[in-house]
Amino acid sequence: MSDQRAAVITGASQGIGAALVTAYRKIGFAVVANSRSIRSSDDPGVVTVAGDVADPATATEIVATALDRFGRIDTLVNNAGVFVAKPFTDYTPDDYATVMNTNVGGFFHLTQRVVEPMVRQGGGHIVSITTTLVESARSDVPSVLASLSKGGIAAATKSLAIEYADRGIRVNAVSPGLIDTPLQGGATPEQLAEFHPLKKAGTVEDVAHGVLYLEQAPLVTGEWLHIDGGQSAGR
Ligand SMILES: NC(=O)c1ccc[n+]([C@@H]2O[C@H](COP(=O)([O-])OP(=O)(O)OC[C@H]3O[C@@H](n4cnc5c(N)ncnc54)[C@H](OP(=O)(O)O)[C@@H]3O)[C@@H](O)[C@H]2O)c1
Repeated sequence: MSDQRAAVITGASQGIGAALVTAYRKIGFAVVANSRSIRSSDDPGVVTVAGDVADPATATEIVATALDRFGRIDTLVNNAGVFVAKPFTDYTPDDYATVMNTNVGGFFHLTQRVVEPMVRQGGGHIVSITTTLVESARSDVPSVLASLSKGGIAAATKSLAIEYADRGIRVNAVSPGLIDTPLQGGATPEQLAEFHPLKKAGTVEDVAHGVLYLEQAPLVTGEWLHIDGGQSAGR
């Protein structure tokens, strides 16, 4: 097995995922980066796999690529996700299918396939990006499908942390507040800042910093780390 650790990062073409690729490369990991539209990288330490995480075949291809190119998977970051904010009764069956298949299906298919090599290796780290809306709903951002899907991932994070603790696999989540990425549809940092008690918008580097903290915290598992300017604490 190679000495260089390897991370799989989904949703890596832009936003938080792209920042995570940079952050993991800086601490010396090789990276398998995925998104539907991702292009190949000039960095020999980054291999890309284009595909929809909702499709189990994408998960199979990502794991096969990581093991073929790097011989190991030390970390999985489940970052790919979609956000559809609407009043509850406005959600369509298509909205439901897209959000659940991408967020929950993407988490399930890839996490399941990554656990096996991690058990063989004697450990690993799985971290998923949820949202602080799971615990602190807002009347001005109705988003039940975000809570349903990311709330499931948050709960599963604790379940998996306990199920695999004796096999050396840590499982954590990061709960961002409002982070300045294309997902925010052009909202300015000043507008995003208004949602946070700290009155600062989040940056992709803020989230990457939190993920790297968890990466380097061997006694931390089953944790939901909030990177949300105080949003989950109250208003
Ligand atoms: N920004 C925020 O304020 C915020 C807050 C809380 C939580 N989050 C969560 O943080 C994560 C990243 O968000 P972001 O703000 O960086 O979003 P973003 O800018 O919209 O980027 C989303 C990434 O996911 C990929 N993606 C979307 N659907 C996919 C699919 N079915 N299969 C594979 N890749 C897919 C996209 O690339 P392709 O289009 O190429 O597939 C893109 O790389 C998401 O899970 C989001 O829910 C974000």
